[in-house]
Amino acid sequence: MVFLNGRLLPIEEAKIPVLDRGFIFGDGVYELVPVYSRVPFRLDEHLSRLERSLAETKIRNPHTRAQWRDIIYRLVDAQPFEDQGVYFQVTRGVAKRDHAFPTGAEPTVFMMANPLVTPPRELVEKGAAAVSAQDNRWLRCDIKSISLIGNCLLRQVSAEAGAVETILFRDGRLTEASASNVFAVKRGVILTPPKSNLILPGITYDVVTELAQANGLPLESRDVTEHEVRAADELWVTSSSKEVLAIVSLDGARVGDGRPGPVFARMYQLYQEFKQKVMRAGKREAVSA
Ligand SMILES: Cc1ncc(COP(=O)(O)O)c(C=O)c1O
Repeated sequence: MVFLNGRLLPIEEAKIPVLDRGFIFGDGVYELVPVYSRVPFRLDEHLSRLERSLAETKIRNPHTRAQWRDIIYRLVDAQPFEDQGVYFQVTRGVAKRDHAFPTGAEPTVFMMANPLVTPPRELVEKGAAAVSAQDNRWLRCDIKSISLIGNCLLRQVSAEAGAVETILFRDGRLTEASASNVFAVKRGVILTPPKSNLILPGITYDVVTELAQANGLPLESRDVTEHEVRAADELWVTSSSKEVLAIVSLDGARVGDGRPGPVFARMYQLYQEFKQKVMRAGKREAVSA
């Protein structure tokens, strides 16, 4: 079952008009919330980010926070599987094609839940390959926009190289990856670019940052140069579906000793423990690191 404009229905029956501005212009925003054992992870943080994306794009938010939570729980409960990736998007709605905003269009709300696919154990233990590219996306990467052609083109670079991610540099500095945030480790210190218009404020980025702080792992949120990335002892990518994943080769060159490092191992463990804590607390609790 999926959710479309107020109704739960089978995906085959979910249809939207071809003049939806999401289809015509990519004029919409989205979220993806991981759900473990039917417990949404960091739901309020995802909803805050959605509210921000809607405000920044001036798309009317059709639901209150309580309504969003309710729809998500209904959708989660309607699935036959426990671990889910709940995807939802809001577009500016259906209107005659014109770049300027329509007056009176109703936002389109679509939501679906798929089985959550996290990296398999072998990949976690061995680490993954990444390649790099110049970040040529627009300058509002802080908005979680459904206009993802820039990200798709960049992700394809790594797909064709048989790698899991494309790590991006802009003006000699690390930004993020095509669908994840990036952390580097040098001499035990975790480095990550600060939040800005150039990166998506990742929910997993926040969890990793909080876990580092709560557990005394040194972390610096500051500009990270391309040189620092290439000379790093460890590299990680983070996202709601990848969780924390070690990158052990970049553009074919080994990262550190070519194996997931000790700081990664610690963070991976902390992340898994934190997930367990959230699941034990149950559906409606907010849990901090
Ligand atoms: C461009 C980009 N950066 C970062 C992330 C990670 O965000 P989160 O941790 O909220 O999943 C994503 C996730 O889809 C992304 O698309």
